[in-house]
Amino acid sequence: MSDVDDQIRRDFAVTRKTIYMNNGAIAPTPLSTIKAVTDFLLKCSEEGPDSTRISDYIMSLLNELRTRVAHLINCERDEVVLTQSTTDGLNLVANGIEWKKDDSIVVRGGRHEHYANYLPWLSVSQRREVHLKELAIDENGYFDLGELEEVSRGAKLVAMSHVLYNTGAIMPLEQAGRISNENNALFCVDAAQSAGTIKIDVKKIGCHFMAFPGFKWLCGPTGIGVFYCSKKASEMLVPPAIGSECATLSEQNVIAHLEMPLKFQAGFRNFPGAAGLEASLRYVLRVGLDNIRNKNMKVAGVLRDEIAKIPDIKMYGPDDPDKRTSIVTFMTPDDSSEIVKKLEQNSIIFAAREVGDGKKAIRAAPHFFNSEEEAATAVSYVKSLLR
Ligand SMILES: Cc1ncc(COP(=O)(O)O)c(C=O)c1O
Repeated sequence: MSDVDDQIRRDFAVTRKTIYMNNGAIAPTPLSTIKAVTDFLLKCSEEGPDSTRISDYIMSLLNELRTRVAHLINCERDEVVLTQSTTDGLNLVANGIEWKKDDSIVVRGGRHEHYANYLPWLSVSQRREVHLKELAIDENGYFDLGELEEVSRGAKLVAMSHVLYNTGAIMPLEQAGRISNENNALFCVDAAQSAGTIKIDVKKIGCHFMAFPGFKWLCGPTGIGVFYCSKKASEMLVPPAIGSECATLSEQNVIAHLEMPLKFQAGFRNFPGAAGLEASLRYVLRVGLDNIRNKNMKVAGVLRDEIAKIPDIKMYGPDDPDKRTSIVTFMTPDDSSEIVKKLEQNSIIFAAREVGDGKKAIRAAPHFFNSEEEAATAVSYVKSLLR
């Protein structure tokens, strides 16, 4: 193990006791993030949380956070709205567009999308006489670009995940973005499983909206997420939530929304979470996304190669490693949830996730603090648990 890998493992306390490979759900935070959150709370407690000094401090902290997010996804700082989660960001779009009767929305895979990126669109279609069109998918979750070309003609919005939560497949976002833009449809991306694992460039993708959490692959605290909204597209959204911090009210009762990004930030934000996410982003960007991807794929490679050799195992996700992230999903003849439970009794944390037809497979989602040795150990436990 290299010195850098060694240091990274020391920075993640989870590595002391547990083989934690459930980073597609929630990743642990590095020690520096824990310190940033406690330092923030201590500072607020010492100075008074609503004092000029702390307000100025929070302003500069949020500026710093937005700068790092802008760096992560190649956008402008004032296109970064702080939310609670991916779900939160996607709902800002679903409930912020002024839908007209017979508008249409195109969603990859329909109910096979993560519900966070399906139910908001389904709900709009049920409430607003808007048509929901679902792109057919293959076993790994891929859709046909020709079908997208056809179905997105005249559509108001196209929505899809960047990386699939169940198979780890990376969607052809640049092509999908180009097609959506050519057809004048807004393009909305759920980047919950990509932010922090692979490079993201919203300009290359040509997306208008993107949502992701701080607490999955970016290793931030829970309760904070990011909504990217291009400045141009922000004019098409009416903020679904309104109150203080996001608008002004004139003597004549005229409401004026504040400029981006405050327009979509009704009420105070999760400031301790922002302090944590800023520290986590600093950490992730310092390690570097290329290094993270290399490391993740090495660990995933051990898992995938060894698990595939077990008799009667079905593997999910594309064979080509360039087309998937470190998510390794497989089905055994045994009950997936039971296997996951038994693994946890041995301090190995995987997850059970839907892969279609109501069936659940086992998902391992290793991140850069995991090691190839951990992967080999986890595989031997999986083998020992199978009937
Ligand atoms: C693809 C995808 N979208 C959305 C979500 C929900 O994320 P959040 O809890 O940030 O709303 C998840 C969570 O696993 C996910 O995998």
